[in-house]
Amino acid sequence: MGKVYYVSKNVGLGMLVLAVAALATIIALSIAYDKERAKNRGKPGDEATDSTSMPPPPTTPFIPKEPWDHYRLPDSLVPLSYNVTLWPRLEPDARGMFVFTGHSAVVFRCVKETDLIIIHSNKLNLTTFYGHHAKLTGLGKATVPTIQKSWLVVKTEYLVLQLHSRLAVGSLYLLYTEFLGELADDLQGFYRSEYIEDGVKKVVATSQMQATYARKTFPCFDEPAMKAVFNVIIIHDRATVALSNGRDIDTVDSVIDGVPVSVTTFEPTERMSTYLLAFIVSDFVKIQSTQNNSLLVRIWARRKAIADRQGDYALSVTGPILQFYEHYYNATYPLSKSDQIALPDFNAGAMENWGLITYRETALLYDPMLSSTGNKERVTTVISHELAHMWFGNLVTLQWWNDLWLNEGFASYVEYLGADYAEPTWNIKDQIILSDVHKVFAVDALASSHPLSRREEEVNNPAEISEMFNTISYSKGAAVLRMLSEFLTEPVFAKGLSSYLNTFAFNNTVYTDLWDHLQKAVENTPGMHIPHTVHNIMNHWTLQMGFPVVTIDTRTGSITQKHFLLDPDSVVDRPSQFNYTWFVPIKWMKTGVEQQQYWLLQKTDINSQMRVSGEDWVLANTNVSGYFRVNYDLYNWDRLLSLLSTNHQALSIINRAQIIDDTFNLARYNQINAVGYACGMGVEGCRELIKSWYRQWMENPHHNPIHPNLKSTVYCSAIAFGGVEEWDFAWRMFKNATLASEASRLRAAMSCTKAPWLLNRYLEYTLDPTKIRKQDATSTIQYVARNIVGMPLAWNFVRARWGYIFQQYGKGSFSFSNLINGITKRFSSEFELQELKKFKEENLHVGFGSATLALEQAIEKTTANIKWVTENKAHVLKWFTEESK
Ligand SMILES: *[C@@H]1O[C@H](CO)[C@@H](O)[C@H](O)[C@H]1NC(C)=O
Ligand SMILES: *[C@@H]1O[C@H](CO)[C@@H](O)[C@H](O)[C@H]1NC(C)=O
Ligand SMILES: *[C@@H]1O[C@H](CO)[C@@H](O)[C@H](O)[C@H]1NC(C)=O
Ligand SMILES: *[C@@H]1O[C@H](CO)[C@@H](O)[C@H](O)[C@H]1NC(C)=O
Ligand SMILES: *[C@@H]1O[C@H](CO)[C@@H](O)[C@H](O)[C@H]1NC(C)=O
Ligand SMILES: *[C@@H]1O[C@H](CO)[C@@H](O)[C@H](O)[C@H]1NC(C)=O
Ligand SMILES: *[C@@H]1O[C@H](CO)[C@@H](O)[C@H](O)[C@H]1NC(C)=O
Ligand SMILES: *[C@@H]1O[C@H](CO)[C@@H](O)[C@H](O)[C@H]1NC(C)=O
Ligand SMILES: [Zn+2]
Repeated sequence: MGKVYYVSKNVGLGMLVLAVAALATIIALSIAYDKERAKNRGKPGDEATDSTSMPPPPTTPFIPKEPWDHYRLPDSLVPLSYNVTLWPRLEPDARGMFVFTGHSAVVFRCVKETDLIIIHSNKLNLTTFYGHHAKLTGLGKATVPTIQKSWLVVKTEYLVLQLHSRLAVGSLYLLYTEFLGELADDLQGFYRSEYIEDGVKKVVATSQMQATYARKTFPCFDEPAMKAVFNVIIIHDRATVALSNGRDIDTVDSVIDGVPVSVTTFEPTERMSTYLLAFIVSDFVKIQSTQNNSLLVRIWARRKAIADRQGDYALSVTGPILQFYEHYYNATYPLSKSDQIALPDFNAGAMENWGLITYRETALLYDPMLSSTGNKERVTTVISHELAHMWFGNLVTLQWWNDLWLNEGFASYVEYLGADYAEPTWNIKDQIILSDVHKVFAVDALASSHPLSRREEEVNNPAEISEMFNTISYSKGAAVLRMLSEFLTEPVFAKGLSSYLNTFAFNNTVYTDLWDHLQKAVENTPGMHIPHTVHNIMNHWTLQMGFPVVTIDTRTGSITQKHFLLDPDSVVDRPSQFNYTWFVPIKWMKTGVEQQQYWLLQKTDINSQMRVSGEDWVLANTNVSGYFRVNYDLYNWDRLLSLLSTNHQALSIINRAQIIDDTFNLARYNQINAVGYACGMGVEGCRELIKSWYRQWMENPHHNPIHPNLKSTVYCSAIAFGGVEEWDFAWRMFKNATLASEASRLRAAMSCTKAPWLLNRYLEYTLDPTKIRKQDATSTIQYVARNIVGMPLAWNFVRARWGYIFQQYGKGSFSFSNLINGITKRFSSEFELQELKKFKEENLHVGFGSATLALEQAIEKTTANIKWVTENKAHVLKWFTEESK
């Protein structure tokens, strides 16, 4: 799945840069002053590790007795193929409900003797045959046992058939079901999306199966390792087009139950996982091209969006990116076509369904006249991310969700490589430092963080599975894989990768399979040497949480590592088999000496080459290629800072940014920032200029005089300076917007008002899907929370309506944990901490679902923030005042 970009890259650069920079500065200063503080307090300054304390208690005391009480399928049956027919109704039935009907036949093999058939089925009304929910037949010579009874288990989402006798090992059987489901607007499984075009309401049937919603569409063995071939048929209105993973091979008109319909048959899929299936019926149109006379590449969207040429850019980058991956993976694109479709209602940023990728409109559509460069960058990276999955994740799939970090971390890393190939002038590879590495540093520096890798038995039910879709999996995963590729070198990394993909094509793996193939690549490369096996080195980064801060004393050449904690006094009660030390690959350079590689393998070491004097400096972790922070003695810090001010060309952009922190990187995209900064700083004339632009637009709504790259800042500022008139105008433009990225900018800008009643009204709108789409509700609340005036309002709003919000949005959505993160980001007072704790207590009966971990992190971050504010206020103020002289 693509990341949920709840912060569009340009949104709020004006107002938010300062807040982000201040936070980042505090984190950076934490290193610089750590030593001093430790000295002042007479603290030994050693790690807070305590490996003797108890591990956290297990989360579920419930002990399953019967096979159908387990969330994992038994290992007795293995599916081979399905024939699935689906018929979504895009008009409501007599009850006013939208439904779909269908039937499915699954062929499976019995591999262990059993008298039970357990298959996933959720929220489907199954037709009964002679009192049972399915028909069972034997294939070939298999004699078929009769069904004794059948029932549905709501908790574990199963259909269970108890047989009179056992199935025979090695034999094939066929299970047939007929079902009726609701085509709800819940963004899960086979669902309904509505939009208005030319004043007419239109309905799309579409799907989102990851992680556990295929079972809400048809009864299936819904686990990623249960790969099978799918023969799909979709029945649909004659005025619509049906899409699925395979290429459509036949569409015929027919009349079924007296209804004139079209019946579209798709080519059989490759052997694939259920979570990658997709079914879509719409009246969308397409643009297409053919790669090398054989591969069909198509972009689908609303008619108006295609007519406005909003799909052209996506079509133009897809070819080059596919070509890049074919070369990088040394494996041809595994399917006969590549469809990408932009949907008006979509929960994640995008979803990598094999051969039919679904996107939010903002992640696929781009209008050269109206969109900003930030929109374009997002389109490129999201497409690149999803296409990377076509091989890594789809062709070769991790066996279970505990290894999700490898799938998502990998795509989040190589998305920059693919995007760089398509747009070589953007220097997009630098972006990973800001968008992933620094972002996850902030979370992984908490004592409540968790290791990347989880054991298979720790992840079972749907809530636990969706909790895996978090920043640690995506961004830390990306950061450690980038580090691995850097120390192996890209050619060796790619060689191992290619061998892994070709070995396990159409099959499943565990993460150590990748390590094994990379190790083989190392061994087959003459002259290549690493101090331990890939497996051993990576265990230090995946099996223990956190990351080290490496301290280099350039006066002595001594190097030490220590678990970096945002609050150095926090207690780490999670034991680590490596005692929170890492095998650290350090790329470094010094005055007059080219980059070299050094491995820190113990807690402390001496490297005499790192001893310098006079004006000479040492810079370690060049280009932030390693997942760790670096601290130096104060003399070296001084020399680096003066190097920056006198001769900053000596350092690459990434290294400069690393030294004086994220602010540098943010200050690159530049005119946008200039306006934002100027207005933020109260620069004379800035306000008037912005107001006049916006006013011109209000006077002539058909002509927007504001440059696309400045829109985010200008809208936000104009609404912040203005009143209800400016706000209501933005609302009208929002409702009328035909370009999703324009709607998205306006939606963010409306949160900039300083009027509490407007903010409260806006918050109320988020719970009304006719006003704010469900997919956008949680991010809108977060936008409001980022406004200083809005933060307490959003917090009160979420607390007061927790039960409802949880029920509507809490069942396994990634953006839901971001909601808690977003609202509590700036909490830094004792009062807020108490409120958080009270909130946790009062809503224990409702639960927190996929936001459970986020809540714990919020409590810890607030505690750490309180400390920092108390201890470092003076330092930070001093730093700011001195810097601004
Ligand atoms: C499934 O569909 C395929 C392809 O149309 C067909 O050959 C096969 O007989 C069908 N199998 C069953 C069990 O319906
Ligand atoms: C499924 O059956 C239940 C109980 O009869 C009914 O309430 C529900 O509406 C049915 N679902 C659909 C989609 O018709
Ligand atoms: C298309 O063919 C060219 C030249 O044969 C090759 O370099 C390229 O990788 C191919 N691209 C795809 C996507 O197959
Ligand atoms: C690419 O794959 C081919 C065939 O699978 C193999 O012979 C070749 O060595 C591979 N190239 C690289 C660079 O791995
Ligand atoms: C998948 O991998 C397993 C384990 O390596 C192997 O036994 C099996 O034959 C493979 N299946 C296919 C279809 O390649
Ligand atoms: C971790 O520390 C404990 C106690 O100091 C020691 O017994 C153990 O060997 C250490 N383990 C490793 C992997 O260094
Ligand atoms: C750092 O990255 C930049 C741009 O990606 C590259 O040009 C430069 O060679 C790298 N520097 C080092 C020391 O790796
Ligand atoms: C609202 O949208 C319609 C249809 O796209 C368009 O014709 C009209 O000009 C828009 N109104 C404004 C004020 O932009
Ligand atoms: Zn992904």
